Parts: sequence; C-alpha cells; structure tokens
Amino acid sequence: DWTPNAFVEETVAELKEKLGNDKVVLGLSGGVDSSVAAMLLHKAIGKNLYCIFVNNGLLRKNEFSSVLQQYEGMGLNVKGVDASARFLEALAGESDPEKKRKAIGRVFIEVFDDEAHQIKDVTWLAQGTIYPDVIESVSATGGPSATIKSHHNVGGLPDFMKLKIVEPLKALFKDEVRRVGASMGMDKQLLGRHPFPGPGLAIRILGDITAEKVRILQEVDAIFIDGLRQWDLYDKVWQAGAILLPVNSVGVMGDERTYEKVVALRAVESTDGMTADWVDLPYKFLQKVSNDIINKVKGVNRVVYDISSKPPATIEWE
Ligand code: XMP
Repeated sequence: DWTPNAFVEETVAELKEKLGNDKVVLGLSGGVDSSVAAMLLHKAIGKNLYCIFVNNGLLRKNEFSSVLQQYEGMGLNVKGVDASARFLEALAGESDPEKKRKAIGRVFIEVFDDEAHQIKDVTWLAQGTIYPDVIESVSATGGPSATIKSHHNVGGLPDFMKLKIVEPLKALFKDEVRRVGASMGMDKQLLGRHPFPGPGLAIRILGDITAEKVRILQEVDAIFIDGLRQWDLYDKVWQAGAILLPVNSVGVMGDERTYEKVVALRAVESTDGMTADWVDLPYKFLQKVSNDIINKVKGVNRVVYDISSKPPATIEWE
C-alpha cells in the first residue's frame, strides 16, 4: 500500500543515489508542487539544491516577500529575484491573451536562464511536474514547469534546458503531493493553497496591463481571499480570484458622479480544473466583501459575482 512516509523515504534515498554531489536548480512558484519537490530534494541533497523564486510582479499582494520568507524558514537554499519591472515592460501595451502569456513565458525563461548561469557547475534541472501534467499536454497547474514546457515549441533552447531533468513527483496525483508535503511537516496553509496560473494576474486584468491596474487588482484580490479565510470558506473552494474588467461604470459619491472600474469575483469547485461549478458563497459574505472592496479600493465602484460554470465558461476570463 502507498503511504506518504514510505514515499518520502524511498524517494530521498533514490535522489541521493542519483544525484550524489551534483548541483540541481529548481524554479519555485509558491505553489504546492514545486514546494514539495523542493523539500524532497532538500532532504536528499541539502545546499546542493539551488532554488530560484522569480517575482514577475503579477503575484498576489505581498506574496513574493511572504512566500520567500516561508521558503527561507523551511531551510531552503533559495534566491528571490524581483524581475517585476522586466515583465511589466514586456507586457506594455499588449492586450492579446496569448501574446501576454507568451511574453511572460519568454521573460521567465530569460530571467531563469540568467540565474541558472550564475550557479557554477549545475548539471540538473528539477521540476515539480506531477502525473496529470505528464498525461495532459497542457499543464493546468501553473508555475515554472508549465512555462518551461510551452517553451519547447518556440525553438532555440536556453542553456538551462540542456540540463538533465529530475522530477520526483512525476508519478503522483495532487492529493498525494499534499500528503507527502504534510508527512514532511510542511505548513498546512502552503499545502492547501488554491491553484494560481503561471501568468498570474496578467490574465485576470482583461486588456493591457499597467502597474496601476496590477495594484488595484492586488488590493481587490487580497480583500476577497482574506475574507474567504476569515469566513472559513477558503478550504471549501477549489480556486478563487478577482478579475479586473476593461470597462468603467457609472457610480455616485456624495453629489459627484464617478466613472470607475468594475471587478468580477470568481470562486469555483472542481477536482482537476477540467470542469468546474461556481460556488454559492453566502450572500452575507458577498455583501461584506463587496462593501469592503468599494470602500477601500480607490478606482473601483462596482463588484459583480461570476455565476458561470465550466463548460462552457472557463475558470479564467482569458
Ligand atoms: P481555464 O481558464 O482553462 O483554467 O478553465 C483551468 C485551470 O488552469 C489555470 N490556467 C493556467 N495555468 N498558465 C497556467 O499555468 C496559464 O496560462 C493558465 N490559464 C489557465 C487556471 O487558473 C485554472 O486553474
């Protein structure tokens, strides 16, 4: 019978045997898979695992610093690289969803390659690939591994792609990954995190991206997600987030009319992201969150809740 403890013991032994004194580089995304992969490798080879955590400027509010701190607290040899400005620059003026994804993928590869080059004599690239990523051509799990995979089609491999690949979670499903993480004593909140797309808030800002729009959406998203936690709803939802719509709507403040942004809130139940149902969050909760958003986030005067299921609607809006 499969048990997480036995898996950890066997995998760590295998990794030790396979990697010896070699150096390994791994891209951390803040998500469950790359974090658990990192912990396993850390147990096996310690400081010879070089983790890189890239801030693309499209993460949730405060996520880069808080997750980086958490990784350091776990004892990982991790380097945080803030490349926000580079990503924003590459995205400037771009509204097409696929071009936005490509631009983010390209900059990620460039930044990661630059960092990997600074690690002397590195010979392995570790990835947090899990079984569903192996059997599906398109990864829905997000993070660096998805980005690296889609780059295969572009041609002209960066140097780090010539490294040997090690994927310790390749045979596991998501729930097994979480159990493996728990058996290594990893933080429950980290292991229970909702999936988050690799391109991050870029695909939740419909249309072109500016630093100001990112800031607005981070504020809105934080109120929504913190609210879900406070109301004990976070773990009942598979994925949640906010979308900044490319329309303004009229509102009134005092005796002035305003013309400001509309945000949509989305929360879904799902098992694998392939199909999904919208969650009937309590009206009282939606009322509170909507009031908080409109009162606290300058530039937003209207909140709507997405009641579409997948199919035919997708989870993301673009
Ligand atoms: P959709 O919108 O297709 O999303 O119903 C299904 C799952 O995939 C995530 N998603 C992405 N993940 N890069 C990613 O790494 C992407 O470009 C991307 N687009 C969607 C989405 O968040 C959901 O979990």
